Amino acid sequence: MADVPFRTIHEIVKAARLRLNQTYWDYLVGGTETETTLKRNRLAIDSRALKPRVLNDVSVIDTTGSLLGIDLALPIMLAPIGSLQVFEPGGGASAAIAAAQAGVISIASSVCTPSIEEIAAASSAPKIYQLYVRGDENWVDDIIRRVIASGYIGFCLTVDTAVVSRRERDIAKRVIPTSQSSPGDFSYQARLNWGDVARIKEKFDIPLVLKGINRVEDAARAVEMGVEVIYVSNHGGRQLDQGVGTLDVLPEIVKEVGGRAQIAVDGGFYRGTDILKAIALGADVVGLGRLEAWALAAGGSPVLVRCLAILKHEIEESLALCGVTSFADLDASFVVNAPPVVQADVFSAFPLLDLEDAGY
Ligand code: LAC
Repeated sequence: MADVPFRTIHEIVKAARLRLNQTYWDYLVGGTETETTLKRNRLAIDSRALKPRVLNDVSVIDTTGSLLGIDLALPIMLAPIGSLQVFEPGGGASAAIAAAQAGVISIASSVCTPSIEEIAAASSAPKIYQLYVRGDENWVDDIIRRVIASGYIGFCLTVDTAVVSRRERDIAKRVIPTSQSSPGDFSYQARLNWGDVARIKEKFDIPLVLKGINRVEDAARAVEMGVEVIYVSNHGGRQLDQGVGTLDVLPEIVKEVGGRAQIAVDGGFYRGTDILKAIALGADVVGLGRLEAWALAAGGSPVLVRCLAILKHEIEESLALCGVTSFADLDASFVVNAPPVVQADVFSAFPLLDLEDAGY
């Protein structure tokens, strides 16, 4: 690790900015239209405070979590990222390698390279495969068979992406990111519906993750159909604009699900305390998207492993200072509403970030 100089997550984000051109940087940090959903994700996190307990013995801290029966060193998932290979040539394989080293779980995106089988072979650690539907039932079934044959422990359907959204940073440059122009017929994704979920549940024996749930009735319906993981997400503010921050919708979904499925959440989670807030409010795991891509852009798998080590350090420190020794000891009483002290923004978790001298 001596050749990985980063000591804070700020430094990793800045290094990513220095290595990425404006097109890829904007594709990564941007959202849809007014970018309100993206900002509300951070606002929901920035508008909550932690209320610590004291005088408990916190000399030994346990940061572990679990998903789908897999023990994790941290309750963290590397979210699926389209076009990951434009940030770092190894793409989904680099993420899988880092996840294995850090003891977290990774979700391979169907719109990144390399292939289903190559990402599976990159590490022996448990992985999930995410799909955008670009073909008929037979096309989907063939993919799920390949996913099962490659040993993935879960299959993830993204359900918040019925149509391609208008990312104005990209449109302004007349750029179409590769993931939004990937081969295949996009109309199949627009037709995706609960019948497909039922069919997949009935036909295949692999845990199903639905990514992009924002409402209690959708969570309830998914649970009734036997979906194993409800993934609360608005695609990092990259799909519907004028949406709600995911941490704001998490508690009602947790209540509705009532332990009948596991719950993942993503959307602006970058710091140890962000993860504490999500788990205290009932998530089982937290997905990292932009942070994963920033770290890979800054230096591939070794920097992503380093980033997760810094995050682990932040989590250990924050659990100890909350007066608890593990995530299991946290509950909603540790989180209270509080006025934000920053302008909620994709960078509001990084007050020391000075991108001006990085040319931003
Ligand atoms: C994105 C999709 C493709 O760019 O995941 O957000």
